[in-house]
Amino acid sequence: MTNPQWTAVDHYFTETIAPADEALTAALADSTAAGLPEIAVAPNQGKLLHLLASIQGARNVLEIGTLGGYSTIWLARALPADGRLITLEYSPAHADVARANIARAGLDKIVEVRTGAALDTLPHLETEGAGPFDLVFIDADKVNNARYVAWALKLSRPGTVIVVDNVVREGRVATPHPDDPAITGTREMFDLIAAEPRLDATALQTVGTKGYDGLLLARVIG
Ligand code: SAH
Ligand code: DHB
Ligand code: MG
Repeated sequence: MTNPQWTAVDHYFTETIAPADEALTAALADSTAAGLPEIAVAPNQGKLLHLLASIQGARNVLEIGTLGGYSTIWLARALPADGRLITLEYSPAHADVARANIARAGLDKIVEVRTGAALDTLPHLETEGAGPFDLVFIDADKVNNARYVAWALKLSRPGTVIVVDNVVREGRVATPHPDDPAITGTREMFDLIAAEPRLDATALQTVGTKGYDGLLLARVIG
């Protein structure tokens, strides 16, 4: 679902208060040239992630689902020079594009792209003691959303912020879709959060260049 007015307003917001620069523009262009799907967050959504990380005073960020590193760049730019961002990506081809984009943005000292299925690489983060993370951005295969939130909680501290992308899917989230693993996984995530006293959460519907979708925002309270 797209709408010319939503797109025009997103462009207005982006041009006025969330302008692209060379590294962001090139990250998207090279992702497209390499054949990656055009599903990165919109610029104003990337700016939201950046602001959330800044507001949080984040120094240690975890991202699940890198693609070409576009959201990674927005998040990493909010970190101090000695900050750290680990981003998990299943596809080695996507990870290669992301590493080049991140290096061009001058963020390769801060960002580490780890290849593999996140459910296989997350346990290593626990073993290494890589957490607790100050902010976790979940934007990978939606079927595993509940498992990713459970891992985010495991790698968290009181005050950790968790953001999950694409939780509305043109409104489909509101009703069960047994044939759609992405909706099923996202609804399992809402059930998990509803039953989890350590998480305080809300979710918002959004429209824009990415159509009709939304994001979930949670905070670990204990
Ligand atoms: N966060 C990116 C978009 C991510 S798109 C941005 O906004 O710029 C989703 C990514 O998750 C894709 O690159 C896909 O390959 C990856 N992915 C899919 N399944 C995964 C898994 N099991 N583990 C880790 N990454 C996965
Ligand atoms: C899809 C994934 C995303 O992360 C996104 O922002 C949009 C679409 C998808 O898998 O279709
Ligand atoms: Mg997404």
